Amino acid sequence: MSVETACADRRVNERLFEPVRVGPLALQNRIAMAPMSRYFCPDGIPHDDVAAYYARRAAGGVGLIISEGTYIGHPTAASYEGVPFFAGPALDGWTRVLAAVHAADGKIFPQLWHSGSFRQSSMPPQRGIPGAGPSENLNAFTGYPEPTRAMTEADIEQVVSAYADAADAARRLGFDGVEIHGAHGYLIDEFFWAATNRRHDRYGGDRRQRTRLAVEVVEAMRARVGSDFPISFRYSQWKQQDYKARLADTPTELAEVLEPLVDAGVSILHCSTRRFWEPGFPDEGDLTLAGWTRKLTGLPVIAVGGAGLDRAGLNEAQATSLEVLEKPLMRGDFDILAVGRALLADPNWPCRVRDGRVHDGVGYTKAHLETLF
Ligand SMILES: Cc1cc2nc3c(=O)[nH]c(=O)nc-3n(C[C@H](O)[C@H](O)[C@H](O)COP(=O)(O)O)c2cc1C
Repeated sequence: MSVETACADRRVNERLFEPVRVGPLALQNRIAMAPMSRYFCPDGIPHDDVAAYYARRAAGGVGLIISEGTYIGHPTAASYEGVPFFAGPALDGWTRVLAAVHAADGKIFPQLWHSGSFRQSSMPPQRGIPGAGPSENLNAFTGYPEPTRAMTEADIEQVVSAYADAADAARRLGFDGVEIHGAHGYLIDEFFWAATNRRHDRYGGDRRQRTRLAVEVVEAMRARVGSDFPISFRYSQWKQQDYKARLADTPTELAEVLEPLVDAGVSILHCSTRRFWEPGFPDEGDLTLAGWTRKLTGLPVIAVGGAGLDRAGLNEAQATSLEVLEKPLMRGDFDILAVGRALLADPNWPCRVRDGRVHDGVGYTKAHLETLF
């Protein structure tokens, strides 16, 4: 390792491992586990293997865990088997996950999810109910065969209230906060995107109007959980079905999406990118999307995408040593760095980084998805 690399690693380490306060939340360091669906929850219930999986990452030194996406209690929310619910009998399972993470000195948010038009009617909990989103037949965007429904205002009201119920359950159970999954082309993001939101009522229209569903979700949650409970909102510039689709082409357009969320009461913004160090708007300089999010809103920000992955993990010739972290981290583009696949490969990734052993770890491969270690 060169002297420059060793120095960069040390500077990055000092900053990553300083305790950080995010609103009312005190974290032991700036590393979060990114939300990752694992499909190991039969009947939507997290069992002891799931509790042990998260506790292992807490013991490995991660400051905050954001759980895999977990469905709100609404009949149209689910799109995949094996994904946990955050309602009904699944809450007992989540209580055990929470106890295991807290016993390992960790903090955890559930990531609350409604999959919108990705739902097929063969999915739980009530089979036979088709997918629903802002406009009809968005299955053309998701690539699934079945037609989907446009949500009525009554549907929207029920979904908003299911989000608020889930946030309230998280607070009552003792979770450290919640994250709203507003990214990757699922329900909330389908409302954001003009291509999938063709509504003419108050939930459609210009970019600000298309944030109305998200705003109502945040407001309803805030009214139930009080002013101090952390609510993180995850948004993305890309969609599951289209990596090039963008929510905003300029910082001004991004502000039109983010400002209403801030006014509604979000406490943290989580910008989902595939490479956190890339410029958010290349024509405007090298500030990352996280940096723009912070600059435009002043809120605490979580960055994510590619941290700790080597060439194999990124599947391209771009290695990510800690050096790429240095500039955006030191400039204050983000408060917290979320790490996904590197933490699947090694639950002790944070301890390894802290101990200066970042370069001797196991690289992530798809085989890591096959078991819940
Ligand atoms: C197996 C897997 C499952 C994922 N599931 C979710 C999810 O449930 N919710 C979500 O917002 N993002 C999900 N993501 C995206 C990750 O949170 C993260 O943004 C992405 O993996 C990039 O970070 P990384 O390069 O550190 O892995 C998933 C990613 C992977 C690899």
